[in-house]
Amino acid sequence: MGSRATAPLLLFLGLLFIFVKISEKRATLPGPSFCLGIGPLISYGRFLWMGIGSASNYYNEKYGEIVRVWIHGEETLILSRSSAVNHVMKKGHYISRFGNKRALQCIGMNENGIIFNNNPSIWKQTRPYFAKALTGPGLRRTLAVSVESTRNHLEKLLGGHNTTSTCVDILLFLRAITLDISNRLFLRVPLHEGEIVSKIQKYFDTWQTLLLKPDIFFKFKWIYKKHEKAAQDLQDVVEELLLKKQQELQEAEKLHDITDFATDLIFAQTHGKLTADNVRQCVLEILIAGPDTMSVSIFFMLMLIAQHPEVEKKIVEEIQAVTGEREVQNSDLQQLKTVESFINESMRYQPVVDFTMRKALKDDVIDGYPVKKGTNIILNLGRMHKVEFFLKPNEFNLENFAQNVPHRYFQPFGCGPRSCVGKYIAMVMMKGILVTMLKRYRVHSHNGSTLENIKNNNDLSYHPNESHSRLRMIFTPRNQAAA
Ligand code: HEM
Ligand SMILES: *[C@@H]1O[C@H](CO)[C@@H](O)[C@H](O)[C@H]1NC(C)=O
Ligand SMILES: *[C@@H]1O[C@H](CO)[C@@H](O)[C@H](O)[C@H]1NC(C)=O
Ligand SMILES: *[C@@H]1O[C@H](CO)[C@@H](O)[C@H](O)[C@H]1NC(C)=O
Ligand SMILES: *[C@@H]1O[C@H](CO)[C@@H](O)[C@H](O)[C@H]1NC(C)=O
Repeated sequence: MGSRATAPLLLFLGLLFIFVKISEKRATLPGPSFCLGIGPLISYGRFLWMGIGSASNYYNEKYGEIVRVWIHGEETLILSRSSAVNHVMKKGHYISRFGNKRALQCIGMNENGIIFNNNPSIWKQTRPYFAKALTGPGLRRTLAVSVESTRNHLEKLLGGHNTTSTCVDILLFLRAITLDISNRLFLRVPLHEGEIVSKIQKYFDTWQTLLLKPDIFFKFKWIYKKHEKAAQDLQDVVEELLLKKQQELQEAEKLHDITDFATDLIFAQTHGKLTADNVRQCVLEILIAGPDTMSVSIFFMLMLIAQHPEVEKKIVEEIQAVTGEREVQNSDLQQLKTVESFINESMRYQPVVDFTMRKALKDDVIDGYPVKKGTNIILNLGRMHKVEFFLKPNEFNLENFAQNVPHRYFQPFGCGPRSCVGKYIAMVMMKGILVTMLKRYRVHSHNGSTLENIKNNNDLSYHPNESHSRLRMIFTPRNQAAA
């Protein structure tokens, strides 16, 4: 009796086992076919031609939320499903990025600094200096510094015209503010804002242009000479600033009561813990992080405010209710819930940092798909925020953050060991800058431009193409607007 029942059961289990084994093997990754090497050629070409962000969106749209393509002949996964994205962000063996080594050498990032440092042991030495500067006492000073810097810049630009509307070269303006805030927090040396802002722009363009280029590109020195110079120019400026800082430190009778990022690095260098090249690169990177990401993010936010008067009204009412006539301070941040939802929804709907690049340092299985050591990985965060969880994914709507959003579905800064080390400070800076501006001015777009009709590029990050024309916005004093 017993054996008659077990035989079919064993047979069934055996078949199930075989079936599971087969379907495990069948879990080949979706994506374009290899096709005698033409597949890899086409997909690499697409990345070079369309830009990284656009190409990633193209492939996810065509093949689904997990895709395998090739960049420079290397297998590359593009992930926009939250389970896969969170898996990669949390595991410890995806803490490297990828990019052409010659390109990274050209911009000083190869095995130096933090952002594209692909040597895990050197990266582990530098990251703590960033983490220290971007949390704790540094974080607590950030709001006051952001408010003061924004106020000064507004006064310098608009002080004389506080009765009428003024047209502002908005990206230049926001870059100057974010650079000034970073300098006051991390370096504290007088600098020429306009000059450095323009050099940061050129440095970023070089980074974006070179990052995925084939090796052969670097054989033609005359082609990339201008890029090499752009990168060198910014490195030279930072070198000079660091020399000034060193002199100041030597002349100071005793150490200032507050230390800063640059001081900590200079000491690390004198104690032989970091090389001079690494110190210079770290300072360069902390100075460019704000102007590269925050300025465009805030520009998008101001455009969204200009296009959504009902949202503007809610935000301004909250700011008024919480801060009244005085400036915003740390104890207010908890209460500025609408401002925070607005910032979140802006970063979701119109992100600047659209994706992040990682590398698998070990074999692994992601959502059932085998992934070999050395595979490049693109986490397509911008798309993830539009295909999962949110009620009105393709609309700018504060309702998307009306209920609590579980962490895994909203990751504008990433999470885990290689996440944005500036994620807390970035939120505080954005709040400080936005609140200080919106308290005083109404913003309008200029010449009918909207987020939908300005030309954008989506390569290394999503940002307006500024070669068409300078972007402007109109600032009108609030007291005047109300009158
Ligand atoms: C709106 C503003 C910002 C956004 C949306 C943003 C987003 C991101 C993202 C998505 C990453 C990659 C994370 C990953 O691979 O998982 C990143 C990395 C990084 N961010 Fe931010 N960021 C912002 C502002 C800042 C600021 C203000 C700083 C510093 C002052 C900063 C410093 C960094 C650094 C140093 C890294 C590289 C970390 C590493 O490789 O270990 N970011 N950021
Ligand atoms: C304009 O600004 C100046 C200085 O910033 C101030 O003294 C003056 O009262 C302001 N005028 C108006 C109408 O707000
Ligand atoms: C905004 O997003 C962050 C995650 O980046 C989250 O911790 C926070 O709760 C969100 N705020 C609101 C008001 O939804
Ligand atoms: C405003 O837009 C029109 C048409 O789109 C364009 O011809 C003109 O140059 C723009 N003016 C400015 C100042 O950008
Ligand atoms: C920006 O637009 C110009 C003119 O349409 C184009 O030539 C240029 O390649 C664009 N810039 C980038 C980085 O795509």
